[in-house]
Amino acid sequence: MSTTSFLINPATTAQSLPPDITPAVAAPMIAFLEFVSPDLEAVEERMDSDLGDDLRTVYDVTRHLLLAGGKRLRPAMVALAARAVLPDTPRERIALVGAGVEFVHMATLVHDDVVDNTATRRGKPTANSVFGNGVAVLSGDYILARAMRLLTLDGDIRIIRTVSDITIEMSEGQVMEIRATGNPNLPRHDYLEILRKKTAVFVEGCCRVGAMVAGGTDEVQEALARYGYAIGMAFQLADDLLDYTGDPAITGKPRGSDLKDGRATLPLSLGLEAGSGKERAQLLAAFGVPDLADSEVLAICEILERYDCFERTRAVACSYLNESDTALSILPPTPAKNCFEQLTEFVVQRDR
Ligand code: IPE
Ligand code: IPE
Ligand code: MG
Ligand code: MG
Repeated sequence: MSTTSFLINPATTAQSLPPDITPAVAAPMIAFLEFVSPDLEAVEERMDSDLGDDLRTVYDVTRHLLLAGGKRLRPAMVALAARAVLPDTPRERIALVGAGVEFVHMATLVHDDVVDNTATRRGKPTANSVFGNGVAVLSGDYILARAMRLLTLDGDIRIIRTVSDITIEMSEGQVMEIRATGNPNLPRHDYLEILRKKTAVFVEGCCRVGAMVAGGTDEVQEALARYGYAIGMAFQLADDLLDYTGDPAITGKPRGSDLKDGRATLPLSLGLEAGSGKERAQLLAAFGVPDLADSEVLAICEILERYDCFERTRAVACSYLNESDTALSILPPTPAKNCFEQLTEFVVQRDR
């Protein structure tokens, strides 16, 4: 499947959304996920009614964040997992829980951009760059509290606990990552543990809560959770790859930020293992240099390319996907299961 088929779907807009939420920002998602389009529109409406109509002091920040869009992958996972278990799961519950998880994600990204000192996300200026770090941090807290409140409206205590657990692990993963910053020799085990905690557990949890919404058995919940974990690992490995190889005009994020921030992700780590003494010195000299020029980032990419570090990173991502196929095998054939299968391929082929 070519990456060109992964286009933002212009059809994904809810008619009832306010005029400044245009098709370009309302639940932009991957074309093949058209199946979940009505669910994501309901999620978007729910998010908008909780954050977009809010005339409190954080309104301008939340508006800015809603308008920036995003792939809405996490609510899509909730919706697909629910519909893979019970095709006619009530949309209202998918909207509440989907909006809840997307708010957790949104709050995390707002905080992450402060911590990573990032100026651009989703092709737009980040909250910290527009409103400053203080407002961004506090607005992130506000959105997180909004997320938890939405989940209490749904009321399923297992879902509230699962999303709380996700958030705890993600925070731990991000703290681990910060502590590993500047260490070019981060052990592979520690690197994978950071990925597990900061991303895979979240995607795993989205699938698990989707199965819970639909009343899935423990066995089905576990299978979907295993699928989500594998997808989450592959997704974050692909993210670490895109940090080097992605086109900023498409990813909406700057290139080379992991290198400049001193994060020894897999492509760099493989390069440090494989390169000659001189190349290794070149990689180390660029590592953790915040104002590294684009041309220098490209020179580093050339070294990594020379040792197939990108291809090898992609191969590690793909190895997680084999696990994901096995996990899905206990599910009966449904349109939602088909979407999951296509999503599996998208995760490593993606360009955004
Ligand atoms: C960004 O997540 C953070 C990671 C876990 C890699 P996404 O790539 O899902 O971000 P958006 O929501 O589409 O912007
Ligand atoms: C984003 O992580 C936040 C989480 C995954 C919890 P990164 O810092 O690695 O991702 P981007 O590149 O900013 O989206
Ligand atoms: Mg980060
Ligand atoms: Mg970041």
